[in-house]
Amino acid sequence: MKNSEHTVLSRYAVIGHPVEHSLSPVIHKLFADQSGEKMSYELIDAAPAHFEEAVEHFKATGGQGLNITVPHKESAFRLSDETGPEGARAGAVNTLSFLPDGRVRGDNTDGIGIIRDLTINHNHSLAGIRILILGAGGATRGILGPLLDALPNELVIANRTIDHAHKLVKHISDDKNALPHACSFEELKGMDPFDLLINATSAGLKGEILPFPTGCAGPKSFCYDLAYSSKETPFLAWARQCSAEKTSSGWGMLVEQAAESFLIWKGFRPETGPALENTPASA
Ligand code: ATR
Repeated sequence: MKNSEHTVLSRYAVIGHPVEHSLSPVIHKLFADQSGEKMSYELIDAAPAHFEEAVEHFKATGGQGLNITVPHKESAFRLSDETGPEGARAGAVNTLSFLPDGRVRGDNTDGIGIIRDLTINHNHSLAGIRILILGAGGATRGILGPLLDALPNELVIANRTIDHAHKLVKHISDDKNALPHACSFEELKGMDPFDLLINATSAGLKGEILPFPTGCAGPKSFCYDLAYSSKETPFLAWARQCSAEKTSSGWGMLVEQAAESFLIWKGFRPETGPALENTPASA
């Protein structure tokens, strides 16, 4: 431990694999400054086989909470002793809190994060529109229920492994709202361009060509990437080639979900404006 850390009152981190790209520490520093908290916020890289051990170690060494990122959101749900309603609905959590009695609480703030970013920051109405979610992993689990609550006309989940998309539809099938439809990328070829496309895959990040048919986005589409980067992401470059009307990275969602995590941990909801302006290019 560094000397300066002896004065730190609370200790948090984000855990993922890989995680070195994460800008969550920048965001939480802005929030801690606003609330007057003394908070340290670390990056923990843990491969799936070492995830539980890494959480246990952080907890045992004075950690008070964790943000969870790819690929651990479903594992974090499984190790939670209690779960908030959004986490239970998703079967995945992105926020862990270590309770005073030693138990671990899991919450999912991804859904509220994306809904706030789309509807408030982007002023984009979701009711009655056609939404396509690309990907069926932990990130999709968190956003699916809240997107269905916004009453789109249609919600399609397309995934490389179709079974994963079917599993997700089955998981949400107790939901009172209309069911989403699961399909392969190939099946998207016959469909009209969607109003809103959300990329929740990690496709393209290793330089491979994106497997999404170009016809599913068009000149009236809003293409939203859950990923964020100081450069244009592969999905947003793909969207530009499809002449999409509007594109956005997931920076706003990251900021909004972080503010909800901060609220859970500290009972204080930070103003997100300063962090929203502090985009990755300038962070
Ligand atoms: P996260 O928690 O971010 O959702 P994840 O649970 O590992 O991460 O899910 C990653 C998603 O990206 C999955 O939908 C995955 O598809 P599979 O279910 O077929 O694994 C998708 N994905 C990853 N690499 C991809 C690629 N090269 N092409 C298409 N989809 C890809």
